[in-house]
Amino acid sequence: QLSIYAQGIFGGVKPEITTDPNKLREQAQKAMTPEAFNYIAGGAGEGATMDANRLAFRHWKILPRMLQPTAPRDLKVELFGETYGELLCKPPQQPKAHSAESPVLLAPVGVQSVYHKDREIGTASACAELKVPFIMSTASSSTFEEVAEASGDNPRWFQLYWPMDDEITGSILRSARAAGFTVLVVTLDTATMAWRPADLDLTFLPFVAGQGNTVGFTDPVFRRKFTEQNDGDTPEDSVTLASRYWIREAFSGDSHPWKDLELLKRHWDGPIVLKGIQDPRDAVLALQAGMSGIVVSNHGGRQCDGAVGSLDMLPEIVEAVGDKMTVLFDSGIRTGADIVKALSLGAKGVLVSRPVMYGLGIGGKEGAQHVLASILADLDQTLGLAGVKSVSELSKSNLRRVLYPG
Ligand code: FNR
Repeated sequence: QLSIYAQGIFGGVKPEITTDPNKLREQAQKAMTPEAFNYIAGGAGEGATMDANRLAFRHWKILPRMLQPTAPRDLKVELFGETYGELLCKPPQQPKAHSAESPVLLAPVGVQSVYHKDREIGTASACAELKVPFIMSTASSSTFEEVAEASGDNPRWFQLYWPMDDEITGSILRSARAAGFTVLVVTLDTATMAWRPADLDLTFLPFVAGQGNTVGFTDPVFRRKFTEQNDGDTPEDSVTLASRYWIREAFSGDSHPWKDLELLKRHWDGPIVLKGIQDPRDAVLALQAGMSGIVVSNHGGRQCDGAVGSLDMLPEIVEAVGDKMTVLFDSGIRTGADIVKALSLGAKGVLVSRPVMYGLGIGGKEGAQHVLASILADLDQTLGLAGVKSVSELSKSNLRRVLYPG
């Protein structure tokens, strides 16, 4: 991280990829196909919630303190009460959660082969080098085993798009567990596909399906049921058909009732985290259902357009459940200052997503790693400039709410 700073300030070999968060999107647009770029950059509807996610950050300002001891800085956080060291010694059948080296995790992002040939193998190994936990999507274009190998000892979590069929769910979760995934993240805000005009204009689904299989399609129970449904035929365009069948399973238009979380608990004996929580009432339901944590998230404004900015709901949710369960945050994180704000408002950790995918699209594994390392370095320096030594010291007293017009 320091070397990025030293190269930038003192000269030397400059990376091919920008360090400026405001230029990253533009550089990615030049490097990627229109379909891939639009898929990352696009939001639902007119993009109102995507805008609100960023505006919400503008309305909180950091209040820097002077002459405070700020070195060496401590970015470590404990997530789900276990230490990272223990993870390394335990046999894979009993994987343990861990404490992370920083409060940053890589968000689950599907079909990464569409953005760059390095796909999840590139991002998982970039994460491993930076000790950033990797959250693997159900829609990954790499297998559990490939991600496990690229991760080595680095912690890996699995994100589930929750099928309506419990047998398929059980089978996917067994495979994830066997490959050493420790924490289950269940995404709730995708019961139906969203209205995303940019993808509709470019007919995105066949494009994605054509890139190869995802974890969902390759699950053996899913394959069996899919084959039975097609009378044993393997039609030429089976990937597109399988993707349609998968969409019926996981994005059926209906959602599981809260009581179905009991079924999930039967399939997963580790921590379960619900992603996509925006209403404090749902946070309380998650707690009552025995969940270990939640991700306050609106899927980066990609699902319900017109929904509130994600950061705007964080304080109320932390107030409701923050002392009883782990509250993580995403949707709109772009800089170190954004992370300081989310942690000051009570998040234990944050998921970073679009910037890293732009990095992947521009420069493969190296690009993703450059973006992640830059965000971590920026976080470290912003903490120091705010007069804070350790992320665990951050609280609302480090911020002021300022409503600028416009
Ligand atoms: C996502 N996101 C997502 N979430 C999830 O649970 N499973 C997934 O497969 C995906 N796939 C995905 C693809 C792309 C291209 C994007 C941009 C996002 C949502 C992601 O995890 C996260 O919630 C948002 O990206 C956060 O918003 P920002 O900070 O990236 O704007």
